[in-house]
Amino acid sequence: MTTTFNVNGKPAVSDAAPNTPLLWVLREDLQLTGTKFGCGVSQCGACTVHVNDVPVRSCSMPVNQVAGKQVTTIEGLSPTGTHKLQKAWVAEQVPQCGYCQSGQIMQAAALLAKNKNPSRAQIVAHMNGNICRCGTYQRIVNAIQRAAKEA
Ligand code: FES
Ligand code: FES
Repeated sequence: MTTTFNVNGKPAVSDAAPNTPLLWVLREDLQLTGTKFGCGVSQCGACTVHVNDVPVRSCSMPVNQVAGKQVTTIEGLSPTGTHKLQKAWVAEQVPQCGYCQSGQIMQAAALLAKNKNPSRAQIVAHMNGNICRCGTYQRIVNAIQRAAKEA
């Protein structure tokens, strides 16, 4: 059975079994390896992508649930890597090992898309489920605040 959907503005077709995690299809079949495998059980956020502009944990979403939908990965957030969050991440030197960071940015992008000027408390609440084993949380919040100031 095939699943037809859209990834980063381009049509995509998956022949994987319907219950295959979207993360597997993105990384193994479509070679979009910016999205990371952390826990595999919806507990860390490393695998966060957008489905129809909503942040989801791709490790726990069967590929058949994205049929006909628009998936955006870190590779598609900005084709040139110049999304205001990506620029703020560089300016604030957020990453340490970097493993969690694409998921962090995708989670943050969903916040700024619906709230252009979030308070610090709103940022913390929204980012709460995205784990960083390197403890870059303070810089993540600073980078989101910096990006929010950039109109
Ligand atoms: S790998 Fe999906 S939430 Fe951890
Ligand atoms: S930068 Fe290493 S886990 Fe977040």
